[in-house]
Amino acid sequence: MLENKLVVSALVKVLPDFTSEQISEKLEAPKSTDMGDIAFPTFTLAKARHQAPQQIAAALVSEINPDGFEKVVATGPYINFFLDKQITSRHTLEQVLAEQANFGSHTTGSGANVTIDMSSPNIAKPMSMGHLRSTVIGNALANITEKNGYVPVKINHLGDWGTQFGKLIYAYKTWGNEAEVKADPIATLLRYYVEFHEKAQADDSLNDEGRAWFKKLENGDQEAHKLWQWFRAESLKEFTAIYDRLDIEFDSYNGEAFYNDKMDKVVDTLSDKKLLVKSQGAQIVDLSSVNPNLTPAMIKRSDGATLYMTRDLAAAVYRKETYNFAKSLYVVGGEQREHFVQMKAVLALMGFEWSTDVEHISFGLITFNGKKMSTRKGDVVLLKDVLDDAHELALKQIQEKNPALKNKEVVAEQVGAGAVVFHDLMNDRTNNFDFNLEEVVRFEGDTGPYVQYTNARAKSILRKAAVTEIGDDLNLDDAETWDIITTLNAFPTAVQRAWQQREASIIAKYALTLARAFNKYYANSKILADDAQLNARLALVKSVTIVLSESLRLLGVKSPEEM
Ligand code: ARG
Repeated sequence: MLENKLVVSALVKVLPDFTSEQISEKLEAPKSTDMGDIAFPTFTLAKARHQAPQQIAAALVSEINPDGFEKVVATGPYINFFLDKQITSRHTLEQVLAEQANFGSHTTGSGANVTIDMSSPNIAKPMSMGHLRSTVIGNALANITEKNGYVPVKINHLGDWGTQFGKLIYAYKTWGNEAEVKADPIATLLRYYVEFHEKAQADDSLNDEGRAWFKKLENGDQEAHKLWQWFRAESLKEFTAIYDRLDIEFDSYNGEAFYNDKMDKVVDTLSDKKLLVKSQGAQIVDLSSVNPNLTPAMIKRSDGATLYMTRDLAAAVYRKETYNFAKSLYVVGGEQREHFVQMKAVLALMGFEWSTDVEHISFGLITFNGKKMSTRKGDVVLLKDVLDDAHELALKQIQEKNPALKNKEVVAEQVGAGAVVFHDLMNDRTNNFDFNLEEVVRFEGDTGPYVQYTNARAKSILRKAAVTEIGDDLNLDDAETWDIITTLNAFPTAVQRAWQQREASIIAKYALTLARAFNKYYANSKILADDAQLNARLALVKSVTIVLSESLRLLGVKSPEEM
């Protein structure tokens, strides 16, 4: 936030009642670029000074020392600063080149933990596009969290417990067979599960059988436990293959089953605090005192079995005790909104002040070429297929554009996976969106490959120039580069806002803006011309690759050297 530094220090001198932070927070971008580069609104000063904001702005401008700025003017209630292009360009490039990948980092988090519940697919089922969203949004938020000075703890809250495993065990034991499962684990288990639901529609007693097997599983029945473990291990193998492709790692795989022996404590606390109420045999917590619209949270079924909610309550407490988080994020689709509102309400009733640090990071529905997906009916779009298709599409374009490229397969994977991830992250997370692979993997337009391609192009300019070191002469003052300079300068603020709003899309949109600014410059100027500003232009190109690569890294997208 170098641009602000000059402005802030000019303002502090004339506003002794304010700290630099307070001033910094107020700075805005003017409505249009011809009105200046940075604006300071004076509205909040009006009351204390008994003056109109317009008057205050005019008075302050006459006091401000304009050295180091092109000019400083009052426009209505705003003080508008026009930065000196040469000074700002030099400072910006110096800073980016000195800080490299650290440019844009903040220390706000002071090393506090932020737990991020992410991905969390259900075992014995293929991972869905919804889980992909959770995985990539969670991963990007983890990187952004870290860039803001926190320590992210990535938790995969595997859906490895619940009545559905009773159903699956029943199905397997009744019409399944070992060889069949071994040959193709997830697909076969999914088929059993789908068949179970079909049969249960005609014969409700199957549901009782399923519940009975889950009860056995919860009570530690050996046979049930062995089958469950087998299903879980096979599922994890498939999930891990996808995580590897996306290069995403977790700090914990403590899934729902992990909380088996931790739920009693929660239930006891609830009962000690007289929060548990019997309702039709089940045990519930009435939430109407928190919010009259909330339905009660079910803690125990009438047969004594615990629920998704019970395990989530135990997990929330465990996470506080284990990580002492500053924030506890749950990256889960919007359809579970009510669940998390209920969970927070129960935690608040239990007296945990930290319940306000628990946040549901909701996201919208993803459709694939207009189709919704449902595992119950078995018509799923497999993630592996999506990534494979993206890889093929990327490869085709590379073969057309750059047939001589050496490691085509590696780059195609980076571009294909990167395209899928980038597309997922470039929309505000709560938006619903449709997925059309052809568009997503294109090298032009608002896509990940476009940003990767721009970055590779910048890198190739540097290779062509073959400079080993960038010199000190960093003076640039032309209109063409100014757009890039101000965009580079906006990166630290983008990183900060992405964290504050829990929005990775801010980084994705930022990367597109920088890529567009650079491409425009590239098309209109001779970067490698042998003149006095060559060094400064190479510094600019280098800075662009640093910030584009870092933006992509934050999103979890690779930066190929060539493509
Ligand atoms: N396994 C769940 C599902 O697929 C998501 C779990 C989200 N995390 C949580 N702590 N509830 O719907």
